[in-house]
Amino acid sequence: MRVAVIGAGVIGLSTAICIYDRHHLTDQPLEIEVYADQFTPHTTSDGAAGLWQPYLYDKGNTQETLWNKETFDYMLEHINSPEAQDMGLFPLSGYNLFTQPVPDPSWKDIVLGFRNLTPKELELFPGYSYGWLNTALMLEGRTYLPWLTNRLKMRGVKFFHRKINSFQELTAQGVDVIINCTGVRAGELQPDPELLPGRGQVIKVDAPWVKHFIITHDIKSGLYNTPYIIPGSRLVTLGGTFQLGNWSKEISSRDHHKIWQECCQLLPSIQKAKIVDKWVGFRPARSKVRLEHEVIRHGHLQSEVIHNYGHGGFGLTIHWGCAMEAARLLGRILGDRKLSKPPRANL
Ligand SMILES: Cc1cc2nc3c(=O)[nH]c(=O)nc-3n(C[C@H](O)[C@H](O)[C@H](O)COP(=O)(O)OP(=O)(O)OC[C@H]3O[C@@H](n4cnc5c(N)ncnc54)[C@H](O)[C@@H]3O)c2cc1C
Ligand SMILES: *[C@@H]1O[C@H](CO)[C@@H](O)[C@H](O)[C@H]1NC(C)=O
Ligand SMILES: *[C@@H]1O[C@H](CO)[C@@H](O)[C@H](O)[C@H]1NC(C)=O
Repeated sequence: MRVAVIGAGVIGLSTAICIYDRHHLTDQPLEIEVYADQFTPHTTSDGAAGLWQPYLYDKGNTQETLWNKETFDYMLEHINSPEAQDMGLFPLSGYNLFTQPVPDPSWKDIVLGFRNLTPKELELFPGYSYGWLNTALMLEGRTYLPWLTNRLKMRGVKFFHRKINSFQELTAQGVDVIINCTGVRAGELQPDPELLPGRGQVIKVDAPWVKHFIITHDIKSGLYNTPYIIPGSRLVTLGGTFQLGNWSKEISSRDHHKIWQECCQLLPSIQKAKIVDKWVGFRPARSKVRLEHEVIRHGHLQSEVIHNYGHGGFGLTIHWGCAMEAARLLGRILGDRKLSKPPRANL
């Protein structure tokens, strides 16, 4: 069986690992290939800060909350291993700040030590009257993607630097199952009106004295349009914007000044920080993650496709739960094929 994964961001690479470990080792030999036109460090997954934090409320989508939880627990299992450093994984505590009281988030029991802020803590952040403190985990794409890539190479998975223009292209080459992990550009291969870019511009600064994440919220401005500060292992990410439907790759000086000013107001020591990089990325925004099996027919050919895209501003946060689900979906396709082909007689 030949399985082709399209996409080498966090979703494609982690899905390829899950498929290998779940099926190649235990079930039947698979030839796994990864196709992508961008690899680390040039994917959206590389630019993201890498904080584990879902959107505040799941609005009844408990399936995604479960995938988020599975991912947190997977990361937590690795946190005390010597591998953590090579994975780009470490714990990070921090604040979510509001201007009014709000209900607790869907993930309050997934993270560690979730609690409301005390009046003394709130005094640190003038203008904010309500907030939470918790310990979360960081998984930095820039380190995690090379780690996943090495593990895949050790397993004999082949990588192809190539743009895929249609599913047929791969089916015609003899690929049995296609796993579609194309992120925000999934719509190029097959239109999906529900998938939109959520443009995010950030500034990366050198400010090693910042030890907590600080994310502010304003119901009117919408998620991630107000200042946030997330320290990474080397650089601190300052944001943010979330401009739905905007494909502009240019660094906007207007966005830049807004982010800089608001972050300096939130944490005045940022004024002393050295700017190292500026970046724009596109969150694959969708009402919910698309994770399902589809049979696409074209002429006499038919492609078995498993879609795994549309992870919005929480791709690292949810990736492992989704990768395991994609591997389960593949398991069903493999099971059905075994049933339809009688076992070869042993002579
Ligand atoms: C500013 C910003 C900050 C963020 N911060 C966080 C955070 O702190 N925590 C978090 O969990 N998430 C965060 N995110 C969200 C996260 O970055 C995304 O959800 C995640 O990267 C999506 O991963 P992906 O693998 O689907 O897509 P990508 O990383 O974009 O990878 C897509 C892959 O598909 C390939 N591809 C696409 N189309 C084709 C084609 N036709 N042929 C061949 N290859 C193709 C690309 O080359 C690439 O390899 C942030 C996003 C932004 C923009
Ligand atoms: C991936 O999904 C998107 C959205 O439906 C679609 O446009 C694209 O054709 C799919 N790609 C493949 C290779 O299945
Ligand atoms: C997209 O975003 C850029 C940067 O913020 C902005 O200059 C531009 O006007 C936006 N375009 C649209 C169509 O909203």
